Amino acid sequence: MRKSLLVLALGVLGIGCFHGLVGCKKAAPPKESQESIGPAGPAKGIPTMNIRKDGFGKLPDGTAVDIFTLTNRNGLKARIMTYGATLVSLETPDRNGALADCVLGYESLDGYLKASPYFGATVGRVGNRIAKGHFTLDGKTYTLALNNDANHLHGGLKGFDKVVWSAESFSEADAVGVKFGYLSKDGEEGYPGNLNITVVYLLTNDNELRISYEATTDKATPVNLTNHSYFNFTAGVRDILGHELMLTADRYTPVDKGLIPTGKLDPVKGTAMDFTTPFTIGARIAKVEGGYDHNYVLNSGGGTLALAARVYEPESGRIMEILTDQPGIQFYTGNFLDGTITGTGGHVYKKNWGFCLETQHFPDSPNHANFPSSILRPGQVYRTVTVLKFSVK
Ligand code: BGC
Repeated sequence: MRKSLLVLALGVLGIGCFHGLVGCKKAAPPKESQESIGPAGPAKGIPTMNIRKDGFGKLPDGTAVDIFTLTNRNGLKARIMTYGATLVSLETPDRNGALADCVLGYESLDGYLKASPYFGATVGRVGNRIAKGHFTLDGKTYTLALNNDANHLHGGLKGFDKVVWSAESFSEADAVGVKFGYLSKDGEEGYPGNLNITVVYLLTNDNELRISYEATTDKATPVNLTNHSYFNFTAGVRDILGHELMLTADRYTPVDKGLIPTGKLDPVKGTAMDFTTPFTIGARIAKVEGGYDHNYVLNSGGGTLALAARVYEPESGRIMEILTDQPGIQFYTGNFLDGTITGTGGHVYKKNWGFCLETQHFPDSPNHANFPSSILRPGQVYRTVTVLKFSVK
């Protein structure tokens, strides 16, 4: 009993106790609804690293949507679909090694098409808000689609979360991945320039899900790509108020009633915004009008990969660390979830049923000269990476 627990724990920690049992091959082109890689496999019951591609339904216009299942050697499983390059489910182990889905979402494509508050999606061209959908760049004023009262949110009416991306799976010695691609045309949702984007999800045997973004443009444009997963490390059983959170941010960007940054960078010290030491999300949420929905200014300043957040769910023992090279992170506590959505596993998503930690440039950056610039110019490459690292305690 003791021994099997130890083996399980080592596996969960990504320590190579299964190393040598699995030799990962280069991915063969995936076939519809078939295991695409994963050698014959080790002893029964021990997971092998593999990728699987399945059909996941069709859009009303007949466009097919696929879903990729990435599994690592410890059994962690991430499912990502081509609609929105969306993380549909993410199974991580608790302290006893039991796997469960820890992101909000739907079991089928239909739910995503009907009503999804960006569950797991890749958002862009500019994540979060641009005030009144206006910004001026190189002397020209651009008008974007308005989809959030008088403002532009998460790329507009048809953002990157609502398009079908091209996809190709691949494998490395110690990881499996999918590379998604999308060409956002000049003028799409009001943005200037043809923007060529790739998003790579890589699941490693170290229990990391690495999300890397690249983009190039033929006209200057703002770009701010992120992933909009709602996490719940109770596996959706209850709300997220008991999760402990730490953020490496001494400052945040206060907002007005429409959730547009005022332009100030305020210290968190002495306020309910302070997560520089761990606090449960629920401890002071009542002091924050509407709940947390704020951009934190990361102490790293962006540019190099650094720890941004650590989350611990005491009952399951699950821990997630987020590392990023972005200058900010949006902490959103699912304040607009209201019980009208029943998601994966039949869970009813009430207020605070999930939280998002969206690594990003600050909201409304194109309108604030004092914020780090989110402008990409022809000849430059937009490149950023965010790592979600899973463990237990
Ligand atoms: C924003 C929220 C918004 C939510 C949409 C978050 O990134 O900060 O204000 O309501 O996305 O689901």
